[in-house]
Amino acid sequence: MGKRAVVIGVGHYLPERIVTNTELEKTVDTTDEWIRTRSGIEQRHFAAEGEKTSDLATHAAEAAIARAGIDAGSIDAIIVATSTPDLTFPSVATMVQARLGMTKGYAFDVQAVCAGFVFALANANALILSEQANRVLVIGAETFSRIMDWSDRSTCVLFGDGAGAVILEAREGAGTSADRGILATDLNSDGRHKDILYVDGGVSASQTTGYLRMEGKEVFRHAIEKLAQTAETALEKAGLGTGDVTWVVPHQANLRIIASTARKMGVGMDRVVVTVQEHGNTSAASIPLALSVGVANGQITEGDIVVTEAIGGGLAWGSVVLRW
Ligand code: UT7
Repeated sequence: MGKRAVVIGVGHYLPERIVTNTELEKTVDTTDEWIRTRSGIEQRHFAAEGEKTSDLATHAAEAAIARAGIDAGSIDAIIVATSTPDLTFPSVATMVQARLGMTKGYAFDVQAVCAGFVFALANANALILSEQANRVLVIGAETFSRIMDWSDRSTCVLFGDGAGAVILEAREGAGTSADRGILATDLNSDGRHKDILYVDGGVSASQTTGYLRMEGKEVFRHAIEKLAQTAETALEKAGLGTGDVTWVVPHQANLRIIASTARKMGVGMDRVVVTVQEHGNTSAASIPLALSVGVANGQITEGDIVVTEAIGGGLAWGSVVLRW
């Protein structure tokens, strides 16, 4: 017996504007062929001028709230995972709180870059298990198009904007892996690798917002090594094995990384939710976007074992295993 944090609703929002690889060919020294073969990406969405991370986050939250069939006023806490907030402060989460008309509860952002949603989900789970909240809205929302250096073709073709959200609710469970809800989490970081993926500006260092810088090959190498490992560790903590997995819902950075991780786990690609072709890399938004698309497509259904895994700047990486 004990509490479990169960997903009762999921939703997402993508900005209207779609930018195809072919469109990028016009302004960047690149080809559709290179982007597809190296990353699997075919298109991405870009936020409109004046459209902010909190706008994307609010739309995704409203969709999740509608799906859960609850009142925004019944939410106790909001956690937004983002590295591209509207402002240095206050948090995007407090902006969303106001937009949803909430006058109680608490809201804050977490920043673990592409692993942000996994970190936010693990923290929301901890709030529920420690009875500091009964209903938590967890959002991943990003506008990475705003931190692209358009003269750096090795990064600017990879990222996109979007948001996804889930609502977690405390339910009583039997304490076994047959329970619905979050069954195990595994979080890691290693700051020695901070220089292979970072933004070269910030409040304290330069008083600028800066641009994303990445040593793609190095990040790729770490991803291949660490993602299957964290997923398997989380599964083990849940008392499960890779054979029990219904869906892997990975961070959507690169189709080659997704496929290689699935292969290492011994999970066929028919059990992996893939959205990277259509969304590009939306950092902390990619997993909740993929969860929402997976549910909308009829792939993920109640009772499924879902494994999320992600890695990004820090490096920070981790996995959450849940029964949907
Ligand atoms: O979400 C956070 C985690 N991030 C990731 O997981 C990203 C991890 N890294 C990757 O996904 C891959 O490393 C990339 C997709 C970024 C790059 O793939 P790669 O196979 O590692 O390519 P590369 O960096 O070795 O580049 C190969 C070539 C270079 O040319 P030379 O020096 O071999 O002649 C680049 O100049 O591709 C060239 N290149 C491009 N060509 C056309 C780099 N970017 C482009 C481009 N269009 N956009």
